[in-house]
Amino acid sequence: MIQNDTWHILGAGSIGCLWATSLCHKGETPRLILRESSYQQLEQKRIPLKLSTPDQTFLFDVDAVSPETIDSPINRLIVCTKAQDSLSALNSVKPHLAENSQILLLHNGMGSQQTIRDALPMHRIWAGSSTDGAYLSAPFEVCHAGQGQTWIGPLRSNEQSEQGFHDLCDNFRLKVSQCDTIEQKLWEKLAINSCINGLTALFNCRNGELLDNGDKQAWLDRLIVETCAVLTALDIPATSLREKVHGVCQSTARNRSSTCQDARRGRVTELSFINGFLIQQANTLGVTVDGHHQLMNQLGAAGVR
Ligand SMILES: NC(=O)c1ccc[n+]([C@@H]2O[C@H](COP(=O)([O-])OP(=O)(O)OC[C@H]3O[C@@H](n4cnc5c(N)ncnc54)[C@H](OP(=O)(O)O)[C@@H]3O)[C@@H](O)[C@H]2O)c1
Repeated sequence: MIQNDTWHILGAGSIGCLWATSLCHKGETPRLILRESSYQQLEQKRIPLKLSTPDQTFLFDVDAVSPETIDSPINRLIVCTKAQDSLSALNSVKPHLAENSQILLLHNGMGSQQTIRDALPMHRIWAGSSTDGAYLSAPFEVCHAGQGQTWIGPLRSNEQSEQGFHDLCDNFRLKVSQCDTIEQKLWEKLAINSCINGLTALFNCRNGELLDNGDKQAWLDRLIVETCAVLTALDIPATSLREKVHGVCQSTARNRSSTCQDARRGRVTELSFINGFLIQQANTLGVTVDGHHQLMNQLGAAGVR
């Protein structure tokens, strides 16, 4: 029997499976919401989920549902799709959202969170920014490769304290903390991603290869300077952005960014919600970001969306 406070997870990719298994580990019984087409292909509607860490493997069974088969109001929802899919995914379950339901948006980038907040005035919308690293080794089998930190916080300033969301911060295998300046956290991550991700997609290279003391690094450093100018205009501290960006390139030197991987597979990337959002804000603020424009234009010409 489904409880009133059951967490529903929308999107069964890496992050959806990571959060679903981590909630199971905590003793919760989350439900996974799949696309209608994916749900129809399942042989059984209770599915085995596997969570692997460098040290351990855990197995859990969870109920899968689809927008057509949800049979009780959703009070607590975690959206784990990519940025470009979040609004349409949410719209697919909108008829099932209880009034005043709690919704946590875990995707990268910015813009879509604010669109969703404005589209759903009757719901409590929170956003998250995470440095966890996870990937699917097979459908419903997630590897938690890098333990990170997730910040969660309300997108409306009058929603400082929410008991339901505090549940995610206590006794949980993921490191989750509440913060009251989530938009700043989102900007801090966007700033780093906007310098690294698009360039790695354009040059089809690993993160570390951007530090080549040559053309790639010159473009990287130009993007950093422009991004700092946008952050400064927004009153967000930007002083150590160069150290942070270079630090990420060094510590993840062998990795390919998610954007680079999506581009290699011909998938739509999240760049419209990263560099695209930054360019939009820069235009509004009157800040020049020609390096970001040039990057997006060259990516577009190369067929990366
Ligand atoms: N993976 C990481 O380590 C990591 C770390 C930090 C942040 N993030 C961010 O977290 C977000 C999710 O990333 P991810 O790696 O989990 O991506 P992902 O593996 O591609 O998962 C996204 C999932 O959402 C599903 N989806 C899309 N539209 C849907 C809909 N309308 N209804 C139901 N499901 C839908 C997708 O299904 P289809 O495949 O059928 O489209 C896919 O299973 C991204 O913004 C990413 O940048 C990821």
